[in-house]
Amino acid sequence: MPATIVIGAQWGDEGKGSTVDRLAATADIVARFGGGDNAGHTINIGQDVFKLHLVPSGILREQVKCILGNGMVVNPLKLLEELDMLAKLGVDISPERIFISTRAHIITPAHRALDAAREQSLGDRAIGTTLRGIGPAYNDKTARRGIRAGQMSDVESFAEALAHAITEANHTLIRHQITPLDPEKDAQAYVDAAERLRPYLRDTTLYINEQLKAGAQVVCEGAQGALLDVDHGSYPYVTSSSTTTGGALSGLGFGPKYVAHVVGVAKCFSTRVGGGPMPTELDGVLADRLRGTGENFWDEFGTTTGRTRRCGWLDAVMLRYSSQINGFTDVVLTKMDILSGLDEVKIAVAYEVDGERYEFPPATIEQVERAVPIYETLPGWQDDISKVRRAEDLPAAARAYIQRVTDLCDAPVNRISVGPERDQLIHL
Ligand code: IMP
Repeated sequence: MPATIVIGAQWGDEGKGSTVDRLAATADIVARFGGGDNAGHTINIGQDVFKLHLVPSGILREQVKCILGNGMVVNPLKLLEELDMLAKLGVDISPERIFISTRAHIITPAHRALDAAREQSLGDRAIGTTLRGIGPAYNDKTARRGIRAGQMSDVESFAEALAHAITEANHTLIRHQITPLDPEKDAQAYVDAAERLRPYLRDTTLYINEQLKAGAQVVCEGAQGALLDVDHGSYPYVTSSSTTTGGALSGLGFGPKYVAHVVGVAKCFSTRVGGGPMPTELDGVLADRLRGTGENFWDEFGTTTGRTRRCGWLDAVMLRYSSQINGFTDVVLTKMDILSGLDEVKIAVAYEVDGERYEFPPATIEQVERAVPIYETLPGWQDDISKVRRAEDLPAAARAYIQRVTDLCDAPVNRISVGPERDQLIHL
């Protein structure tokens, strides 16, 4: 059974990019199944730091073919920018190894403008989106008026569809007192991009099924995190796509009979960007401490937007839920080196809401907003573990923390990372 699905187990930014890059070492295909350039996947190789938004994180492994699946929303300009960046770094970006699903949807300039307009009109209740046009693009998709990537193969009809989408969006922009777009001029760069992207278009559903049947090893790369899923996340403070295991199957178009592993990637503490409840959120010195220290300082700033991430203790209530809705067979716990040096570490094992104990997040957002975490305190460890490469060399307290996470989330933590480099992933 050749497919491995990689899911962000929290609110995104868990370290999926580097996990996928590592799994891609033995893969034939890496396929993104959802989201768009709201994602920011970082891969560190020596001095080089690659920040990918649309191209799957398998691109840095020469033998890997990369798919942008039907569940994605693609901004052609951003994709070309990223392909050009990779080409400059000597990465093979030929259409023989990168395929865009003809069924993926296009993010137009209208979507970006509408995203900004809607956020502005929400005022205090803004979602805190990445302003990449994600919501409006999925909105058009489900309203059956979106533009699919396959339409880029007919430049004339693509140009017409873009101009129409912009004209329609202008009504809303004018209502919001925002300068309308120019249907001809603003579409032109997209039309030019379509010419360049045409060779990459493919029926990726057919391709991936043929490959899976033939035994190819496929890594399905999730974007964002399970707690931002449009169905299962803290609605309305979510993204607009299915970020969970079900989204992988529908976003690539194959059946569960091929799935061997569902890998949840979880940070060993919590972070969140944008609005919405986060029961274990901390502020002040402790939050800053979780953002990192000294040499181990990995930026807790959004890869896409540069916003500071909200930080807090690990929330095992959310992680247990995430494990349940995704069916994790494996968990990768990232950034364990960041917890080094703390006297004690805490994990939220349950919530109290209106006097009742909850082992899983309550179903309404208002209840989650009122949730008070019930913490368990574990001993910390002082040693710098970033140079540890074998499980048996980890301090006993770090091993106890990992074991506790395994017990709490009902899925085995069988890999941890102690830094961003490829060799800083430890198999347990
Ligand atoms: P959108 O996906 O841009 O519509 O944003 C909706 C919510 O998801 C906002 O809270 C964003 O901050 C959050 N979000 C979207 N993409 C990511 C990501 O890749 N990492 C973390 N948060 C994200």
